[in-house]
Amino acid sequence: MALERTLSIIKPDAVAKNVIGEIESRFEKAGLRIVAMKMLQLSREKAEGFYAEHKERPFFKDLVDFMTSGPVVVQVLEGENAVIANRDLMGATNPKEAAPGTIRADFAQSIDANAVHGSDSAESAAREVSYFFADDEICPRS
Ligand code: PPS
Repeated sequence: MALERTLSIIKPDAVAKNVIGEIESRFEKAGLRIVAMKMLQLSREKAEGFYAEHKERPFFKDLVDFMTSGPVVVQVLEGENAVIANRDLMGATNPKEAAPGTIRADFAQSIDANAVHGSDSAESAAREVSYFFADDEICPRS
């Protein structure tokens, strides 16, 4: 088992629903540690850079519109197999397909307003963590 880090974002719909604490609690109960955290309003430039790999997809503008529609909470989660552990907690991208008890099944309303983002691989996690956090903003707790 590998100790990993992953980037998690609580998206504007979940922040607006006032369920930040409930989502963070799921990470902690699953054994993931929050080692960095900030709330911020993404600029279009910052959101477009974050989702650059999707810039040719038809939903790119909608995704950037949504991610800049209100504040987000960005955090680094640390734990054993953190990337997969977080993806399991999140559930499928489309909440209609998300397993019962997952964050998206419980808090998301649609494929575009789907409550949370999580890195999809260790490589993505390394890039995404450094996109939002400097090394001295991360506090290892293991
Ligand atoms: S994946 O797992 O990255 O391949 O998922 P994917 O389905 O490609 O979706 C990538 C991100 O785009 C969001 N998305 C959408 N936004 C707006 N409208 C539509 N139709 C739509 N479809 C997908 C999806 O929520 C993913 O966001 P993140 O933040 O990566 O979860």
